[in-house]
Amino acid sequence: MSDAEETIPIKDEYAIVAARSAGKTISSKCGFGLVDQTRISTAISELARNILVYAVTGTVYIREVAADGKHGIEVVAEDHGPGIVNLDLAMTDGHTTGGGLGAGLPGTKRLMDEFDIISAVGEGTTVTVRKWL
Ligand SMILES: Nc1ncnc2c1ncn2[C@@H]1O[C@H](COP(=O)(O)OP(=O)(O)OP(=O)(O)O)[C@@H](O)[C@H]1O
Ligand SMILES: [Mg+2]
Repeated sequence: MSDAEETIPIKDEYAIVAARSAGKTISSKCGFGLVDQTRISTAISELARNILVYAVTGTVYIREVAADGKHGIEVVAEDHGPGIVNLDLAMTDGHTTGGGLGAGLPGTKRLMDEFDIISAVGEGTTVTVRKWL
């Protein structure tokens, strides 16, 4: 197994495009089909956009992972922004504090197999998602 890995600093719109494109490349390398490649890169751009909108800067890590005989992709979106006060609310379809659609986080959860979010007010937010082949 190759160990494709990419770290993308998020600081502007170009970085979102770069993260999306890295997601496509790495998921293809992992063996995901076109539909899953698009699901994964869409999830990545939602997480990257949240970093830009709410935390201004942060980092997206994309890598191949293997666990329990499974093989897939892991994306970690990390920032040291304001954090999320109410995680249940943030995960509710339609809830937004930024004038968006409130679809990014719940949509990302549906697109991926595993979704984990850790957030502390004043400290930041880390979202970890995985998809298995
Ligand atoms: N990285 C983050 N830091 C701080 N708050 C965040 C972060 N990501 C999400 N949130 C909070 O969670 C809410 C829901 O996020 P979500 O991505 O689902 O919707 P949205 O960004 O408001 O709209 P959309 O993604 O549909 O354009 C946001 O409105 C914001 O309050
Ligand atoms: Mg969003």
